Amino acid sequence: MDLDAIDHILTTTRSVRKRLDFTRPVEPEVIQRCIEIGLQAPTGANSQHWHFVVVTDEEKRKAIGDIYRRSMETYGSLQRQHPPQYAPGDRRGVQNQAMIDSSDYLNRNIHQAPAFIIACIDTRAVEQPHLFEAPIPTSFYNASLYGSILQAVWSIMLALRARDLGTAWTTVHLVYEKEVAAVLGIPDTVLQVALLPVAYTKGTDFKPAKRRPVQEVTHWNAWGQPG
Ligand SMILES: Cc1cc2nc3c(=O)[nH]c(=O)nc-3n(C[C@H](O)[C@H](O)[C@H](O)COP(=O)(O)O)c2cc1C
Repeated sequence: MDLDAIDHILTTTRSVRKRLDFTRPVEPEVIQRCIEIGLQAPTGANSQHWHFVVVTDEEKRKAIGDIYRRSMETYGSLQRQHPPQYAPGDRRGVQNQAMIDSSDYLNRNIHQAPAFIIACIDTRAVEQPHLFEAPIPTSFYNASLYGSILQAVWSIMLALRARDLGTAWTTVHLVYEKEVAAVLGIPDTVLQVALLPVAYTKGTDFKPAKRRPVQEVTHWNAWGQPG
């Protein structure tokens, strides 16, 4: 196994926004293959209640882009009232402005991405109230629900990256999720969890991000015990 190649993909699959190439079409069969790869992800009790809505229609992308922008306005105004606070030296504070600039670019241009993939889960089949009566906490339900779709989405992002396509994990449109559902005819029982704009990237030389140190977030045998 080529560990270097695998680690490279795993560590350089960034949120691509400014480097999405809106001029180059994306082949439907490439998207289909990446979704197929995503379907190898685990699901609770092998439930596989996932669905992926691919949007290439220009009018629908424009309509969803408008909803995305309105969602960002609503979310952004709340966020500005309570900006995240980071300790001096915490890299997330330094990275914050670049992330805001990049998100703003995507916000203005998302409709230009040749395709969107909207990952969904059909809650009709997942909600089994008898399984979630006390004393089983709702965290079990939530972990089972989102844990049966999110890693498939990440696999799709990795598979796209391996083919020189970029994406950004986005959720902000969920502020007006029902409006997006109406554009696409998504039934009421189906929960949307992420929207990926998909495009070939301008260049492929992405780098690992500077994250919090692994020692800071890893606990050996007890909380607070570094290795
Ligand atoms: C749950 C989740 C929701 C996100 N929502 C958005 C979003 O709505 N819009 C956006 O531009 N980026 C969004 N992002 C991307 C994050 O901003 C990004 O992952 C983070 O800044 C780290 O950058 P990186 O992915 O390049 O390492 C989201 C990421 C996650 C995991």
